[in-house]
Amino acid sequence: MNPDLSSKAQQMLPVLDSEMRAVLGFDGNSPEPFLGMMHYQMGWVDSALQPVESQSGKRIRPLVCMLATDAAGGDWHQAVPAAAAIEIIHNFSLVHDDIEDVSPTRRGRPTVWKVWGEAQAINSGDGMFTLAHLALGRLLGRGVPPPTVLQAFRRFDETCLRLTQGQYADMDFETRSAVTVNEYIDMITGKTAVLLSMSAELGALVAGASRETVDHYAAFGLNLGLAFQVIDDILGIWGDETRTGKSAATDIATKKKTLPVLFGLERCDPLRALYQDSKPDQNFVAEVVKLLDETGARTFASEKAGFYSKAALDHLQAASPAGQSGDALNQLVDMLLNREM
Ligand code: IPE
Ligand code: IPE
Ligand code: MG
Ligand code: MG
Repeated sequence: MNPDLSSKAQQMLPVLDSEMRAVLGFDGNSPEPFLGMMHYQMGWVDSALQPVESQSGKRIRPLVCMLATDAAGGDWHQAVPAAAAIEIIHNFSLVHDDIEDVSPTRRGRPTVWKVWGEAQAINSGDGMFTLAHLALGRLLGRGVPPPTVLQAFRRFDETCLRLTQGQYADMDFETRSAVTVNEYIDMITGKTAVLLSMSAELGALVAGASRETVDHYAAFGLNLGLAFQVIDDILGIWGDETRTGKSAATDIATKKKTLPVLFGLERCDPLRALYQDSKPDQNFVAEVVKLLDETGARTFASEKAGFYSKAALDHLQAASPAGQSGDALNQLVDMLLNREM
């Protein structure tokens, strides 16, 4: 990691973790089973609910939030409740997403539904959704003005709704033969980009930045989110499972309309024919990857991710982020573009 980013992350992430532990009621001991499923998702306990240090995710969204507050001239400690709410809502979305995508593995471990079944995984996600809202209310205890907190709640709810709408579209596209690139962009805006956008936006809002600056931070996060999802699409096909911690075959087996697949479907008749066959057989994934490689789908998607990263950097520059956190935000864009996990 780059020096500014790594020093800021070392400062901020332990504070974030204590806040999330307080909100989710984890005191370091073996939890009761309902909260235990959430603590498992957060990487604090194993499937027998024994405390462990395990892969807990990259914490990108809360980091963006706290860095934005600092870079916009505020006190990042005031943003910690918003950062916690965002990371908890992200984890809620992953618990439900893994059921929807039939994904067996996340962060190198069995998914919550694989351990406790779909019904209890839904309950655990619902609990996290609610606790994320309660987490956001803790902004009041940090001296953030009530009108700002109210605005944060409204943006939070609008974002959750848009995220769910994106997840709806993502599932809907699985059974559709034709999806346009514009429809795809609208779908990933919902499922991924709006949450990253809100992360930067709430960070700037807590700092008391001007409307124009807050808007630039939001646009920075939105474009970062679009690039982030396109990279996730690439890693979902060509990534190393031992690094991503996720199964590489699931996206193709469920006929997800990811960007590389859309590109391939438009240009490659044999690929279209394969996708029209109703049931993917054993060789389906390998054949699809071979055809995608031949059509240059990976290069196309990488270039798109580069385009959105550049747009993110332009908005960041327009927001004039200050100090080490400003540099860290710039470094984060490059780091995420070149990530392998
Ligand atoms: C995964 O997000 C879901 C997407 C929006 C692509 P992350 O890649 O940020 O997941 P973790 O939290 O680091 O595991
Ligand atoms: C990302 O979904 C968006 C949400 C989870 C809301 P994906 O299904 O593309 O992400 P991964 O690859 O499972 O992490
Ligand atoms: Mg999904
Ligand atoms: Mg998924």
